[in-house]
Amino acid sequence: MKKSFLVFNLAILQILTLNILSATPETRQHLIIDKDWKFIQSDVKDAEKQIFDDSKWRTLNLPHDWSIEGEFKEDAVTKGPGGYLPTGIGWYRKHLNIPSIGKDQQFWIEFDGVYMNSDVWINGQHLGKHPYGYTSFYYDLTPYVKKGDNIIAVKVDNSLQPNSRWYSGSGIYRHVWLNAAGPVHVVEWGTYITTPVAEPASANVEVRTSIENKLKFAKNLVLRSVVINGVGKEVAVIESPITLTAAGNTNVEQSVKVDSPELWSIETPSLYTLQSTVMEGTKLIDTYKSSFGIRKIEYNTDKGFLLNGKHIKMNGVCLHHDAGCLGSAVPDQAWVRRLQLLKEMGCNAIRTSHNPPAPEFLDLCDKMGFLVMDEIFDEWVEKKGQVGFSYHIYFEEWWKSDLLSMIYRDRNHPSIVIWSAGNEVPDQVAETGSEVMRKLVETFHKEDPTRPVTQANDRIAAGDGPAKIPFLALQDIVGYNYVDRWNERRELYYSVDRHDYPERKMIGTENVSVGGLRGQYSLGTDQSDGRPGRSRDYRLGMIQAEQLWKFTSVNDYVIGDFMWTGIDYLGEAGWPSKSSSSGVIDLCGFPKDGYYFYQSQWTKKPMVHLLPHWNWTGNEGKVIPVIAYTNCDTVELFLNGKSFGKKSYVFPQQGHSKSWNGYTRPYIAPTTSDLHLSWDVPYEPGTLKAVGKKDGKIVSEEVRTTSAPAAIRLSADRKSFNADNHDIVSVRVEIIDENGLVVPTANNAVEFNVEGEGTIIGTDNGNPQDKTQMKSKKRSAFNGLALVVIQSTEKAGDIRITAVSQGLKDAVIQVVSQKAGNN
Ligand code: GAL
Repeated sequence: MKKSFLVFNLAILQILTLNILSATPETRQHLIIDKDWKFIQSDVKDAEKQIFDDSKWRTLNLPHDWSIEGEFKEDAVTKGPGGYLPTGIGWYRKHLNIPSIGKDQQFWIEFDGVYMNSDVWINGQHLGKHPYGYTSFYYDLTPYVKKGDNIIAVKVDNSLQPNSRWYSGSGIYRHVWLNAAGPVHVVEWGTYITTPVAEPASANVEVRTSIENKLKFAKNLVLRSVVINGVGKEVAVIESPITLTAAGNTNVEQSVKVDSPELWSIETPSLYTLQSTVMEGTKLIDTYKSSFGIRKIEYNTDKGFLLNGKHIKMNGVCLHHDAGCLGSAVPDQAWVRRLQLLKEMGCNAIRTSHNPPAPEFLDLCDKMGFLVMDEIFDEWVEKKGQVGFSYHIYFEEWWKSDLLSMIYRDRNHPSIVIWSAGNEVPDQVAETGSEVMRKLVETFHKEDPTRPVTQANDRIAAGDGPAKIPFLALQDIVGYNYVDRWNERRELYYSVDRHDYPERKMIGTENVSVGGLRGQYSLGTDQSDGRPGRSRDYRLGMIQAEQLWKFTSVNDYVIGDFMWTGIDYLGEAGWPSKSSSSGVIDLCGFPKDGYYFYQSQWTKKPMVHLLPHWNWTGNEGKVIPVIAYTNCDTVELFLNGKSFGKKSYVFPQQGHSKSWNGYTRPYIAPTTSDLHLSWDVPYEPGTLKAVGKKDGKIVSEEVRTTSAPAAIRLSADRKSFNADNHDIVSVRVEIIDENGLVVPTANNAVEFNVEGEGTIIGTDNGNPQDKTQMKSKKRSAFNGLALVVIQSTEKAGDIRITAVSQGLKDAVIQVVSQKAGNN
């Protein structure tokens, strides 16, 4: 179901839950029940029973991830894939007081995500089991719910290890909802909205509504569907008389025209709400709201992807679901901050590798204008590597219900433009793989014929067993993983298959990895791990990305590329690291150099980014390669006022236009065919300055100055936020010199203190090797920066954050948490 209101406004509603439930027993309610759960991190006998003493258990609010609270230990059973954090078994119990129950009133409980192997009981009655940690599910409570105190018990079993190739987190790490409705109601996730005609002049909105009748007799009712625009105006309405069969589901098809629709796009992500109302005469029986967008998507073998008729290259990134020090229980604002950063990089597409994300993540992508590849599995039947307890052991029994859960929950999101059935599944080379692919694709097509299906194939050109051709032929769009690493095809990329399979649609599901450690440079030998595309040397790390981008960018038939990864993630590491550094943004949400490489290619706002830093004491006279990423026409580099020359690249090259030898813009002579500029500069302390020009005018400047730590500076991403446990403020910690410049080599130890109505819920510095607990109040800066995340105590009031470090001037910052509606 679409969350028709923002999650962080909802805690307040929860307080009202009981009143609402009793006031209008037949009116549908969708209430977050995240507050005041009891938790214990161990297996406990009889904890599912109604009568059980949980008074000594910890009280906490969901979403909750117990793994992130633990210590990083080399001998942890999760090992490197799980980020060396603990997992195990945990129990949650919630007292749910239902003051009254209306006649035939229906109740169900909905879990957005529990990692993993959850069992749920109400009042000792087992409701079900759900192995997969990333799909949403719900249970009917109606037969067991009673007036007064009810006990929801949830056992989470993440003890079978290893079960994931990356950090999963453990627990009820997404929201939980209590739904209440009358006996006749729209099924949860029961609307399917498509826009087969979406033109600027007019759109056809088609709606299929699934209505459930729990009564033992048929009903004649009316379904009224109203389309409401972003400012709350009703723009179209349709009423259909319906006959509901006794004790069953009925699907109702409706089609409605919207004049001059505001089309959903990346630049203007306009959303509509469909309000479905079931009426019996003038009596309201049920209402249900679904958010959707009006947009047209097309995939063309030659032209790639078109949104509302306009060609768009997918400038994509792959993202895992964790948010660094917050683990997998991620408040919306953490994603708002991260997505804004990706937007500023010019990223317009996200692959939710390798599982369905939280519903709020998709809501944000709808609102912020991202294209999404929603992915369901990392494994099908065949096991991957050494991860013994991963999804392959559940696939046969659970694939269909997990897949349907994702499709039904997500298919109204305009941001989702493509489905992915899997990532690098070993089934691509197995004899049985095509059969599995076929049933997955058929299910996608049956439930949502509007979007194509891909699979991220890494073995298309594998010499030791390539992906089977029939397997690939079943995919609407063939996903290419690491097309840039395939030996003899490394520089030919997709062109070999384009020649051999001219009808094939192609997308780069996962490629290159610029990554590396933020702000870490070595002047010595290449830091690569020996594999192509893995260079961590600042002088070389971008070369492969440049070459692939050149190809992807000029060949329209390549729909786009999702690079690995937008942001660093926990796990998939080897001790002494606990996290993967493949991202162009670190675990704290601080950009690395690679971020600016993509920004220089994907955005037009003038920018210059210089690397490395200019703190090289002891290297006086040594020649240091200096690199600039830019989208300016030219960049001139100065050291202490002395020019090292003006350089430029031009991509794509300006060809003749209008007439032979006629250029539309002044001709710029490139000094390189790379997509970066470089100078060799003998080191001397001082200021390195890059001056970027466009059309002869200075449009961007960047400096790097030799500096030494003098003070701490704090800055919050917001000055005020909601007094709600779902909301957070991220505080950036900088070690600065006496002129206020960040010292890019500073690693000073900092201690934080919070006074007033806030608590620290995480600290980090982006260094994969820092294994200080994520909840620690002490954190060393890493290359000049650290992060502190503050959550309100749920009381409105001031929050004062102080940071102290020996030998540095302290810093203090104040933010305020306010009751929803006040800010
Ligand atoms: C890919 C895989 C990703 C991640 C990555 C690491 O092959 O799809 O999940 O493991 O390699 O480089």
